[in-house]
Amino acid sequence: MSTVPSGASAAVLKPSDPVPSDAVAVEGPDFDAPLSLQTFLGAYERIGFQASSFGTAVRIVDKMRRWKLSDEPIAEDEDDRLRDPVVRERTRCAIFLGYTSNLISSGLREIIRHLVKHGHVSCIVTTAGGIEEDFIKCLGKTYLAAFDLDGADLRRRGMNRIGNLVVPNANYCRFEDWLTPILDKMVEEQRTDGVLWTPSSFIRRLGKEINNEESVYYWAYKNDIPVFCPALTDGSIGDMIYFHSFKNPGLILDIVSDIRALNERARTAPKAGMIILGGGVCKHQIANAMLIRNGADYSVYINTGQEFDGSDSGARPDEAVSWGKIRAGAESVKVFADATLVFPMLVAATFARDREPDGAT
Ligand SMILES: NC(=O)c1ccc[n+]([C@@H]2O[C@H](COP(=O)([O-])OP(=O)(O)OC[C@H]3O[C@@H](n4cnc5c(N)ncnc54)[C@H](O)[C@@H]3O)[C@@H](O)[C@H]2O)c1
Repeated sequence: MSTVPSGASAAVLKPSDPVPSDAVAVEGPDFDAPLSLQTFLGAYERIGFQASSFGTAVRIVDKMRRWKLSDEPIAEDEDDRLRDPVVRERTRCAIFLGYTSNLISSGLREIIRHLVKHGHVSCIVTTAGGIEEDFIKCLGKTYLAAFDLDGADLRRRGMNRIGNLVVPNANYCRFEDWLTPILDKMVEEQRTDGVLWTPSSFIRRLGKEINNEESVYYWAYKNDIPVFCPALTDGSIGDMIYFHSFKNPGLILDIVSDIRALNERARTAPKAGMIILGGGVCKHQIANAMLIRNGADYSVYINTGQEFDGSDSGARPDEAVSWGKIRAGAESVKVFADATLVFPMLVAATFARDREPDGAT
């Protein structure tokens, strides 16, 4: 009988240092035990990989939701208004929500609407499609389809594809019919009353005009939640503004007032958190506003972007720390995932939790 080579056994059976007492063991949910939605969602944290990042996102969003200024000692240089205990109790973390356009095309629109309707967020940044698709959905439906539908055939049939969704082109024609008279009124108010329109006041006006509880921006208007869209013209709204500029020229949209309003919101918030779904403008514009306050206090990114190409979309929170857009030591996480999979669960585990029969803990 030969013996095990000692070098090999020492290499394979290398002893471990003692495991720290606070180490968490990996474990999945037990489907043999009664499992409520909240227990199920709570089990994600111990699964590992992106499931654990999701668990961290739940924890950070809960901190954003629960934070009150009254939890903190009064600072030496505290603003007089913020010394009042009642005001301190009422002063909450300002939550900046960002999302890409496609998410309003998807069923996340209804989840975002829930957050806006119930005043769970302080301000929104999105891109043009994220504005118009909400109003267009009030005028006609978006349908489930397939990623592999033939583009030329869809074009012949007047169907526009967004991933595995399709939007009939007729919806955009209805959108023009709805929007054009509003643009006329806006030009008139600019001329006669000297109104200086900004992308956010434009969106607020559309939220008022749609007067439809299905709309995210109807609720943003009702609850006075500003919606910023620095690149408002990059979508169907831009096409409509372009057509309208031939019929009734002169509309001005001022982006300077909006950047001031967004940055001032960030600067003056006693605590600020970001929840950003996807990348591009909605991600960077919020992070950039956080720079004005020397960094966000809480950050949750959910996106599929990768960092190897140096894109801002793919940048992890630590890159934002280097720029002062997230405070050093602040709690942050990036969940690498399609937001349509993760965000419904995140909202179920946080903002919507208190609505669950088993939610209060
Ligand atoms: N429905 C539409 O998508 C639509 C409609 C009209 C206009 N547009 C215009 O196209 C331009 C680009 O769109 P955008 O800036 O909103 O974002 P985008 O679609 O270019 O996405 C930016 C990045 O966000 C991430 N991302 C996108 N979807 C995601 C998801 N489901 N889950 C996780 N991560 C995701 C990806 O990393 C992606 O590269 C904008 O100016 C917008 O107005 C889009």
